[in-house]
Amino acid sequence: MGAGALAAAVWTFFLTGCSKGRTEKVIAKVGEIPVGGSKIFTYPTDVEPCILLRPSGANYVAFSRLCTHQKCPIFYQPGGDTLNCPCHGGAYSIVDGSVVDGPPPRALPRVVLEQRGQDLVATAMIETKPATQGG
Ligand code: FES
Repeated sequence: MGAGALAAAVWTFFLTGCSKGRTEKVIAKVGEIPVGGSKIFTYPTDVEPCILLRPSGANYVAFSRLCTHQKCPIFYQPGGDTLNCPCHGGAYSIVDGSVVDGPPPRALPRVVLEQRGQDLVATAMIETKPATQGG
């Protein structure tokens, strides 16, 4: 392997290590869901469930829909402040996907969104490391 190929491999590893998916995908139209509403979609592949939320006005957030504890699908109660897992009571903040209750070891992976005209486009998936104990 030449130096160029090695550098490309290292760069690819860096990118995939920092974000799970680099695929771009239109997941909704602006205004498609009401304030307080949600929409299920898949990203970055067609078998990885995610959820789009619109907490307020032009504020959209999206996360993986798989609980970080044992991969049960999480749910959203319209207008609520948390995403909830029915399996063992895990709960996540809709602000940043952080764990607010239950056994999940880390935040929900977050889908990076961009607004392009009237399209909401998923551009990457960012995963967080498990929380460490004792500082
Ligand atoms: S699978 Fe979600 S809390 Fe256990």
